[in-house]
Amino acid sequence: MSSNSALLQPITLGQISLANRMVMAPLTRCRAGEGNVPTDLMVEYYRQRASAGLIISEATQIMPEGQGYPSTPGIHSAEQIAGWKKITSAVHAAGGKMVLQLWHVGRVSHSSFQPGGKLPVAPSAIAIAGEGRTADFSKAPYETPRALELAELPGIVATYVQAAKNAIEAGFDGVEIHAANGYLLDEFLRDGTNHRDDAYGGSLENRFRLIREVVEAVTAAVGADRTGIRISPLQPANGMSDSNPWSTFSYVVKELAAYPLAYLHVAGMGSDQPGAAGPHFDLNDLRPLWPGKLMVNYHYTQASGEAAIAEGHADAVAYGVPFIANPDLVNRIRLDAPWNEADASTFYGGDSKGYTDYPIYSG
Ligand SMILES: Cc1cc2nc3c(=O)[nH]c(=O)nc-3n(C[C@H](O)[C@H](O)[C@H](O)COP(=O)(O)O)c2cc1C
Repeated sequence: MSSNSALLQPITLGQISLANRMVMAPLTRCRAGEGNVPTDLMVEYYRQRASAGLIISEATQIMPEGQGYPSTPGIHSAEQIAGWKKITSAVHAAGGKMVLQLWHVGRVSHSSFQPGGKLPVAPSAIAIAGEGRTADFSKAPYETPRALELAELPGIVATYVQAAKNAIEAGFDGVEIHAANGYLLDEFLRDGTNHRDDAYGGSLENRFRLIREVVEAVTAAVGADRTGIRISPLQPANGMSDSNPWSTFSYVVKELAAYPLAYLHVAGMGSDQPGAAGPHFDLNDLRPLWPGKLMVNYHYTQASGEAAIAEGHADAVAYGVPFIANPDLVNRIRLDAPWNEADASTFYGGDSKGYTDYPIYSG
């Protein structure tokens, strides 16, 4: 028994009190229904995982233009809000807590997702090399996005705010602003994707401006103590790079420190990835710059998660793939039980197979 595990100690993130420090990381599973509305199968999936101290929802588009993968849920229509309500009710009834991850994919989208078949939008008209997904699950080369006009940016910020309000209406305990993994906010931040020459490009202050505006507006609308943010300083996915990640992200963390956010979520990358998106630095070096609660993620095991907390590198640890395969991951930590392996072929799309049928530990 390891019930004295550091991972099992309670913690409070802003207004949200967690029974333990194990967070279910945001995980896109592409199983939303018609109109990108959450389904009853999704209710069951999240209910099964409600013993996590906190569930971060799969990334959820704030507007139709923000979608980049098929069957991902939204939080912009009345039907979607109603669908999410069923999920938050089930998670709360099972004693869990849940926040919604606010998502706009920027240039990762494809015209097949866009109203009117228009081009996806981004800070600059730079395409990702390679192929992405279209609305019918097939693959196609990424398109060159349209650079957002200056005059459109206040509308994007307002859409984040409306989506955050919708999330609270849907019963979520808070929201996580997705500023990681090469999606719109990250594209504005890192200089590989932002070549603008207006107030939103060039200097660090300018590249951070859209994130600052979203953070300011969302926290004003739903409360900083119900708002978290996710960043991924070295993540190369979706064609991301930065000429100086330490300079960019030490600035970001210092600036975010002005807002009493519920938490900062730093998603890392491991040595098994092709390479950092710019000169590597130790993500733990961000810790002293952040006065609030810090959540870490990326390939954590029980031992490395406990060590991250014990050594003061983190207050909570988010587990992604382990929560896909182990709905009862918290109990497995408690019992020192082995973990199920995940089946990657069922990650995106499909039905209950590889979704709600992973066995719980029975000794
Ligand atoms: C199937 C799958 C879907 C994912 N979807 C999201 C997502 O919606 N939002 C996000 O920020 N990260 C997403 N990620 C990244 C995970 O949150 C996490 O950072 C990654 O799996 C590494 O953590 P782990 O080693 O504990 O799995 C996804 C990863 C996987 C494998």
